[in-house]
Amino acid sequence: MSGWTVNDIPGLTGRIAVVTGANSGIGYVTARELARKGARVVLACRSEVRGNAAVNRIFAEVPDAVAEFARLDLGDLGSVRDFADRFPYDHLDLLVNNAGVMALPYGTTADGNETQFGVNHFGHFALTGLLLPVLLDTPGARVVTVSSGMHALANIDLTDLNSDRRYRRWTAYARSKTANLLFTHELSRRLAAHGADVVAAAAHPGYAATNLQGAAPRMEGRRLAERVVELGNRVFAQPAEAGALPVLYAATAAGVRPDSFTGPSLMMWRGAPGPSWRAPWTLNDEAGALLWSASERLTGISYDALKG
Ligand SMILES: NC(=O)c1ccc[n+]([C@@H]2O[C@H](COP(=O)([O-])OP(=O)(O)OC[C@H]3O[C@@H](n4cnc5c(N)ncnc54)[C@H](OP(=O)(O)O)[C@@H]3O)[C@@H](O)[C@H]2O)c1
Repeated sequence: MSGWTVNDIPGLTGRIAVVTGANSGIGYVTARELARKGARVVLACRSEVRGNAAVNRIFAEVPDAVAEFARLDLGDLGSVRDFADRFPYDHLDLLVNNAGVMALPYGTTADGNETQFGVNHFGHFALTGLLLPVLLDTPGARVVTVSSGMHALANIDLTDLNSDRRYRRWTAYARSKTANLLFTHELSRRLAAHGADVVAAAAHPGYAATNLQGAAPRMEGRRLAERVVELGNRVFAQPAEAGALPVLYAATAAGVRPDSFTGPSLMMWRGAPGPSWRAPWTLNDEAGALLWSASERLTGISYDALKG
């Protein structure tokens, strides 16, 4: 995979892709590049205004793109169900679980889960489960979930998934990103046990300049922090274009293995896509199974198609 670029993305005409959080950053670039290669791309975004603006930006950059907006708020399981109920296609080649929030002040989703764990993990867990029937009906389908090198800061706490006992914003982010990897691990095991022709893989963008880093300072009106973030993004980060490459690799390259984790090859920070290090706790079968049953319970979504 050395030196892999967008030019290596195979033709995707006839394929259908859903990208969550596709109006900004990594998700936008991912959606645009999939569309450039001929995929029909559904931009699943929480804001109709920002989602449609992103679709129009894609049309401006890729005039023959086939792209559309569909509303999806991962912080509201009702919205996730509506999205799945309204999904208009009978197959789905690629689901990119990309949307995310980072280090926000304490808050809860519409369903009462802590926001970072709720949006980053529970929302995507529910979405994938609800779309599973169409994924299973699509030979060679993929589910790519976007984690982070920062998962390494914290394992999940199975006794306190929603940080009810104590909320520390960076720990909560790291736990949600560990959950993305454990989810991919457990989903891979369940797909294999079912003999399903669906690959679940994970990726991360390293450090890429997007809206992610400034969201919390903006929300809290912390001007100095905003400026520090902007400076950090200018000096140390790679552009979103480069950050999206590992995601695009995991989504489209031939031979991507189940439960693989792709990221930038230079110190998990920048550079061409390559296999990425992951904390050993993201490969723990027992933790994966326990997270799975807790996620089924807390979202009310069970993966019936993989049972029996
Ligand atoms: N950038 C990095 O350096 C970096 C590093 C490691 C991992 N990541 C991961 O990369 C992924 C993409 O982040 P990014 O850097 O591209 O950040 P970004 O530019 O802030 O994009 C995040 C996207 O997620 C969407 N989103 C947030 N909450 C949502 C919700 N409740 N429902 C639906 N969509 C929601 C945002 O929508 P709005 O525009 O409406 O807020 C936006 O479209 C995240 O999973 C993040 O954890 C990024």
